[in-house]
Amino acid sequence: MKKIGVLTSGGDAPGMNCAIRAVVRTAVGCGLQVAGIKRGFRGLFDDDIVDLNARSVSGIVNRGGTILRTIRFPEMKKFDVQETCLENLKKRSIDGLVVIGGDGSSRGAFALHQHDGFPVCVIPASIDNDVYGTDETVGFDTAVNTAVEAIDRIRDTATSHERIFVVEVMGREHGFLALDVAIASGAEIVMIPEKPITIKKVAEILETDRVMGKVSSLVIVAEGAGRAHEVAKEINQLMPGVEARYSVLGYIQRGGTPTYQTRCLATMFGNAAVKGLIDGLTHFMVGIRGTEIVRVDLKEVVSKTKQISEEKLKLVETMAI
Ligand code: F6P
Repeated sequence: MKKIGVLTSGGDAPGMNCAIRAVVRTAVGCGLQVAGIKRGFRGLFDDDIVDLNARSVSGIVNRGGTILRTIRFPEMKKFDVQETCLENLKKRSIDGLVVIGGDGSSRGAFALHQHDGFPVCVIPASIDNDVYGTDETVGFDTAVNTAVEAIDRIRDTATSHERIFVVEVMGREHGFLALDVAIASGAEIVMIPEKPITIKKVAEILETDRVMGKVSSLVIVAEGAGRAHEVAKEINQLMPGVEARYSVLGYIQRGGTPTYQTRCLATMFGNAAVKGLIDGLTHFMVGIRGTEIVRVDLKEVVSKTKQISEEKLKLVETMAI
């Protein structure tokens, strides 16, 4: 291993820059050269590649986003696209590739490896925290904190006006973000794709809350489980005596300066990724289980689905009495 490539792929996440910095500085410290690949796998396909050194990653540890830019590139599924990417890697004498991204990016990395055994490592980075094999992905902690800070502000006005507020958070396919945000913000109800719930049932729960003396309630909905404006409208129709309003947090959850937790996770992941490639691993993801940094077979990562915590779902209910 003499030269590694690094790219960021898929939806961006706070902490991606920390991970890039850790990859570059670990590699340089181990005597390796580093190539930065712009705009994810698209940049690899287009041979849009720049040399990086320890100074290239100065001043980014506290910055959200990714200096390498990112793009979604589903064309990576195609054999001839993979062929071109591998040709560009070999043309640049790159011996191994670090892919910083989420679920979809892991599949792209594994496809590249499967093509001809090229060594790849994935650093799980997504605000969705939906990657199998790791307790947490880079960016998740920051996104939760961003959402909770916004919801604490919404809670003030919800209480003042004795209203029900429906807050939509990101999570097109999974509810990990919505679930942790619901617990941390003290929401009465959480709606996630994994556990469909009817608005009728939501209204029944909210009615019980009011009978118990609650003057306002919070409903957190993952975008994959419903749209906040529709949920609020239906609650108003089912509960004539109350006022339901809504907010969509949207893309603020994807930006901002990474938290301490995100920074440390990204830095540990970047360091472990380079060390794994140097140790000769060819298809793995770095992850965290409890407090331990682990190396997970990429084939397992892309073939299994992370499960939502039933205990956390029950906790939302328990705290909402
Ligand atoms: O994958 C992260 C994510 O933020 C999802 O939560 C969200 O649904 C999606 O990306 C939005 O994708 P895009 O940035 O392409 O609109």
